[in-house]
Amino acid sequence: MKTIVSVLFMFVLVACQPNASEQENVQQPQIKNEKAQSSQADNIDYLLLGQQHAQKAQKILGSNLKKTMQEQGPMGALNFCHEQAIPLTDSTVSGNLLDLKRVSDKNRNPNNTPNASQLAYISEAKQQLAAGQSPKGMVSEVSGEMVAYYPIVTQPGCLNCHGSPETDIAPDTLAVLNKLYPNDQATGFDVDQLRGIWVVTMAKQAE
Ligand code: HEC
Repeated sequence: MKTIVSVLFMFVLVACQPNASEQENVQQPQIKNEKAQSSQADNIDYLLLGQQHAQKAQKILGSNLKKTMQEQGPMGALNFCHEQAIPLTDSTVSGNLLDLKRVSDKNRNPNNTPNASQLAYISEAKQQLAAGQSPKGMVSEVSGEMVAYYPIVTQPGCLNCHGSPETDIAPDTLAVLNKLYPNDQATGFDVDQLRGIWVVTMAKQAE
């Protein structure tokens, strides 16, 4: 039993949010697109700032999830994701950071539905992943605010709750998922696929 619990524990550490291998999820923006470059004209690197905000949110989600897993086990972790993923992400919003969220074209929680511009980035990022490239973040100015996107890519542990319902997701986990999310679209993923994106909205700062 102890072994099973610790194996599950390792999986659920990466649970409803990206965890320990965070770096892989919020990828280092190496190549900035044109919009990103133009946003640097005022010397503030919003692409990097946004990435830091997303990483901070991931850390908060990760540490809380780890604690829940230790105290309440895998089902507790699932419930934790259900109840806390959005409120905890929202809790990081303050000051210059105006909004922070995860959206997905194949969302589990319908509140995480992307808009047209996010969908366009998602489809581009998917094509890049399919071509073996690593999608970069992007930032653009929308109505006077800086909005950045970063890819969230699946890792093996994600499949426990986002993989194939037949082979990856345990029956008891699947039962709870079906109950909590009757319109769940977030299963059937393999590793190295685009699970969703971070959307980080920042106020423009004085130069
Ligand atoms: C313990 C089960 C579990 C695991 C493991 C898990 N997730 Fe999730 N995930 C969830 C649940 C539950 C939600 C819905 C949260 C909510 O209702 O706000 C979710 C939502 C998400 C969302 C928000 C978009 C949506 O579909 O609503 C993303 C992005 C996401 N997960 C990525 C990941 C990634 C990446 C991994 C692996 C690093 C992972 N998840 C592992 C349970 C899990």
